[in-house]
This record gives sequence, C-alpha cells and structure tokens, in this order.
Amino acid sequence: MLNIIKHPNEILRQKALPVANVLIPEIQKLIPEMIETMVKSDGVGLAAPQIGQSIRLVVIRHRDSDLVIFNPEILKKSLLKEWGEEGCLSVPFTFGQVKRHKNVTLQYIDQNGKTTKIVARGLLARVIQHEVDHLNGVLFIDKAKKIEVIEPAN
Ligand code: NI
Repeated sequence: MLNIIKHPNEILRQKALPVANVLIPEIQKLIPEMIETMVKSDGVGLAAPQIGQSIRLVVIRHRDSDLVIFNPEILKKSLLKEWGEEGCLSVPFTFGQVKRHKNVTLQYIDQNGKTTKIVARGLLARVIQHEVDHLNGVLFIDKAKKIEVIEPAN
C-alpha cells in the first residue's frame, strides 16, 4: 500500500501534468497500487497527487468495479447542483458539505489507452468532480461549508 500525502503538503496544490503514454510500465504499475491503496483506506476515489505523483490519473470505486481515468476532461455539467457530504483521504477526520453539479459528462483515457466517454450521475458525478479538483490543486475544504472535524477517541 502506498503512503497517502496529507494536507497541507504542497504536492496537493500543484496542477498535475497530463499522461502522454498510459501504456508505459511505470504508469501501468501505479494502477493496481493506487486501487489497492484506495480500497484498503476505504476511499471511493484516489488521485495520483495524493500518492505523491503529480500526474493526471484518478481511480474511482464504482459498483464493485474500479474506473481508471487518465487525463479527464469534464465536457458537460448539468445546470442543477446539489449539496452533499464529502471527506478526503488527504484531509483525515474532516467532513463538509460541498455543492457539485448533479450530472457530468466525462471524457478520459482508460488503462488500455482508449478514449472513453461516460455520463455520471449522483455519487459518481460527485466523486469525479472531487478527484478532478485534486488534479488542479483544489481540495474539498476550499469549497465546503459546515466543515466538521471528527477526531477518533484515543
Ligand atoms: Ni480527496
């Protein structure tokens, strides 16, 4: 399992670089490592800057499968937005309400190098927006209202 970079580390504030070739071994090796790290940490998504790699790669848990997303581009956003609770593996024990577009159309390159498009709704749309923010150096705490810190009891 990879080490998860925590706020306020500067890596989390950089704009991540596009991945030119997703098929090279160094990049392919990261995919299962990031998925394992996300699953063991009980996260629904993980962006490469969170494991110290400032590249445009995100993994997302969705209905018991894993989406592997390189160079995501949000092509369309619904006018409708909704509030929902978010947390982040890089900002432990912290939760807040964030307003997000209800639906988004996402284009990305998958783990095989194929350009793919999906229409996402509900939780998936929210996770996509949260993870794409990570690639642009934005954290949910920048946008959240009613931030709560829930420290575990020792
Ligand atoms: Ni996050």
